[in-house]
Amino acid sequence: MLTDTNYQTLSSDELLEQFHRSREYSRALIENLSPEDCQAQSMEDASPAKWHLAHVTWFYEVMILKPFEENFAYWNPQFAILFNSYYNGIGDKHPRSKRGLLTRPTLAEVLAWRKNIEARVSALLKVKFSTELQWLIQLGINHEQQHQELLLTDIHHLFSNNSLFPAYSDEPVQNTLTTQPFQWIRGVSGLIEAGYEGNGFHFDNEGPKHAALNQIHSIGNRLVTNAEWLAFIEDGGYQNFKWWLDAGWAWLQTEKISAPLYWNKESKNQFFRFSLCGNAPLDMHAPVSNISYFEADAFARWASQHITSFAGARLPTEFEWEALAKSNSEYSTDLFGNVWQWTSSNYTPYPGYQPWGGIAGEYNGKFMVNQMILRGSSAYTPAGHSRSTYRNFFPTHARWQMTGLRLAKDGV
Ligand SMILES: [Fe+2]
Repeated sequence: MLTDTNYQTLSSDELLEQFHRSREYSRALIENLSPEDCQAQSMEDASPAKWHLAHVTWFYEVMILKPFEENFAYWNPQFAILFNSYYNGIGDKHPRSKRGLLTRPTLAEVLAWRKNIEARVSALLKVKFSTELQWLIQLGINHEQQHQELLLTDIHHLFSNNSLFPAYSDEPVQNTLTTQPFQWIRGVSGLIEAGYEGNGFHFDNEGPKHAALNQIHSIGNRLVTNAEWLAFIEDGGYQNFKWWLDAGWAWLQTEKISAPLYWNKESKNQFFRFSLCGNAPLDMHAPVSNISYFEADAFARWASQHITSFAGARLPTEFEWEALAKSNSEYSTDLFGNVWQWTSSNYTPYPGYQPWGGIAGEYNGKFMVNQMILRGSSAYTPAGHSRSTYRNFFPTHARWQMTGLRLAKDGV
C-alpha cells in the first residue's frame, strides 16, 4: 500500500510544474516525427509513438480523473480498452501485437485528448491536494518518463527497419564516450543496505530497504566498449557454444545473431552502427549497446579467458552495482545516462515486498519472474529519472533497449 515515503512532498505549484514539463517533453519527442512515423509498430515488443502518447494519457484518465474528478466522464470510453497496456483490474485490452493497426483515433485526436486531460488534471490539483493525489500524479509523471524512453527505443527500432536508415535527430541522442583505461575497483563487500531510503518518489519494487550480503569482489571502473566487443566477434565468440548458456545458444541459432542489434556492414570489413542520428562507422570507444543478457553473459565468460585485464570476469549482482553507485560518485558518469547494465540478478521481490494497493498494484510486482535486473539508466532515459536503487528488468533475449554491461569479478 502507499506509504508516505513513496513520493516527494511538493507544493501544488511545484507538482504542476513537473507535470506540465513532463507532458511537454513527450510532445517535443515527436516534433521530428510525421504522423506516419507515429503510427507504425515494428514488432510486438515495441509500440507506436502515437500509442505511447495515448497510453500515458489514459493512465491519468483512469487512475486520477476517474476516481477523483467530480462529474467525471471519459473523453471516449472506448479509449479505455485501446490504451490499456496490462491492467487486468481495469478491464479489456486491445491486443499488444496489433497496436500499429490503430489508425483511429488519429494522431491529431490523441493530441487533442492529451490537452483535455492535462487541463483537467491541472484543474483537479487546484481544488484537491490530498496525499494520495500527490503520489498518483508523481506516479503519472514517472510512468510517462518510462514511456518517453520507450518511445525513443521503439522509434530507433522502427527506423532501423527502413533500408534508408533515416535519422531521427541531428543532435547526438547517443552514448557518451568512454575514454578512461580499464581498471578493477574494490567493490563494497559485507552486509550492505540495499533498496530505497529517502523522501523522493520511487517504485514499490525498490523497497523495502534491507540488508544484503556482498562477497569480496571487484567491479569495472567503466563500461565494456565496442572495441572490446569487436574482439569477441573476431575471435568467433558468436560461433563457439562454450561461452553460451544453453538457452542463449539456442536463441542465437534460431535468431541467427552474430553481432549486437543495429550493427551492420556497409562494406565487407567495417562495422557501422545505426543510431537515432543515422548510420555511422562504429565508434570504438563508445560503450557497447543493444545486447541481450545472453550476449552480456557470454562476453563476460569469453573475456575472462581472452583479455588479460578481464581475467575472472563475470556480470555483477544488482547489489554489487548498487553498492558501487551509492559509494563512489567518481564513476557516476558511466553508471547513469549511457547504457543500462545487465546484472546476474533475477528480478525477484525484496524481503518484505508488498505491491502498492489498488490498481497500481499491477505496476511492477506481477512481472517478477523470468526477467533479469538492469541497473543505471541510458542515454534515452529522461533527466531526473535515474536512481542508485532503480530496478529495470527485461527477459534474457531482449535487446532493443539501450543495454550494455559492466564487468565484475570475485576477490580483489
Ligand atoms: Fe505504461
